[in-house]
Amino acid sequence: MTGEARHHVVVDGTDVQFDCLEGDTLLRAALRAGIGLSYECNSGSCGSCRYELLDGEVRTRWSEAPGLSARDRRKGRRLACQSVPVSDCTVRVGTPTEIAMHRPGKQRAELKEVHPLTHDLSEFVFSTGQPAVFSPGQYAMIHLPAGPVERAYSMSNVGNCYGEWRFVVKRSPGGHATSILFDKLEVGDVVELDGPYGHAYLREHDNRNIVCVGGGSGLGAMISIVLGAARLPDAGARTVHLFIGGRTTQDIVVPVALELAAVRLGELNIHAAVSDQADFDQADFEDGEVTSTPYRGFVHDAVVNYFDEAIRDFTCYAAGPPAMTDSLARALVLGQLLDADRLHFDRFY
Ligand SMILES: Cc1cc2nc3c(=O)[nH]c(=O)nc-3n(C[C@H](O)[C@H](O)[C@H](O)COP(=O)(O)OP(=O)(O)OC[C@H]3O[C@@H](n4cnc5c(N)ncnc54)[C@H](O)[C@@H]3O)c2cc1C
Ligand code: FES
Repeated sequence: MTGEARHHVVVDGTDVQFDCLEGDTLLRAALRAGIGLSYECNSGSCGSCRYELLDGEVRTRWSEAPGLSARDRRKGRRLACQSVPVSDCTVRVGTPTEIAMHRPGKQRAELKEVHPLTHDLSEFVFSTGQPAVFSPGQYAMIHLPAGPVERAYSMSNVGNCYGEWRFVVKRSPGGHATSILFDKLEVGDVVELDGPYGHAYLREHDNRNIVCVGGGSGLGAMISIVLGAARLPDAGARTVHLFIGGRTTQDIVVPVALELAAVRLGELNIHAAVSDQADFDQADFEDGEVTSTPYRGFVHDAVVNYFDEAIRDFTCYAAGPPAMTDSLARALVLGQLLDADRLHFDRFY
């Protein structure tokens, strides 16, 4: 660390302590120090990073963050991802969770290219000039100085030594960050990347076959998982199924990067699910783009419809809107088709 101001944080009832640089959040400072505080979205929405402040002072970044219920607020609970210590602090947190292998860090990143994929989905390519270290399926926080605004985006590539970070982003009508990304940010502009974060990364030592489910903006994270699986030493013995969900056939795209993955994997099967368009058929997709009859309905139903009990042999990764990931979890885990520890997902709040 440099000579920048910092605050000391003590976790009550444990011997865990760490320093938090001025302006950093409690959650990120802990993760940077290798301490696995519980979290999921890093964005104030999921509530998994709730804690109690026993001593000291924090500034709250987003006071209306939906991750806290009215009851939480009455009980004085706070969100570690929205708390910026302004003095030394003592906190009470839940049991620390699994620590991802890569500690997050901030770095400057230059926008190099933008590739439109559909009418509202583009891939943004950034370069940092130093190795891009993350696991397939993880995400980074992109800070856009033009807002200023910061949002979470999942990498759509895999870690690499030349410092390339790719993100598939869906334009959100009127959205603060995506309006800047799509309409203002130009090639050559610099943003701040902070990451990697997230627990829904590819379990490289799990040798089961893989099901990936990407709804809308979740496609990027699932491309990363497929590319990561294709890099494994036993890729040739693996079967991967990728389910892509969209409202209409216009929302379904199969990125070219998957062609290379298909060569290395034993089998790559690509399935499409279209929820809001009645009149389409396989002819609406390019030759060989999807390998099964496109499903009419939601992507989580497509998965259950295709596999049913056969999914027991797979490990499943998913990313997309909370309604989609929660429906998938209900169908697979509550429906007793898959154990909870074999479904890894990120909800894109
Ligand atoms: C873990 C994770 C991974 C994600 N990965 C992707 C991805 O790969 N591709 C993709 O397209 N999208 C992804 N998202 C969604 C993305 O972060 C944005 O929510 C989305 O792009 C819309 O942002 P916006 O600013 O344009 O829209 P807005 O409507 O302006 O904001 C969207 C969200 O920002 C949050 N928010 C609102 N106000 C504040 C505030 N004051 N402070 C902090 N947060 C606020 C809320 O959660 C809101 O739903 C991911 C989200 C998460 C949590
Ligand atoms: S990690 Fe803090 S609310 Fe989701």
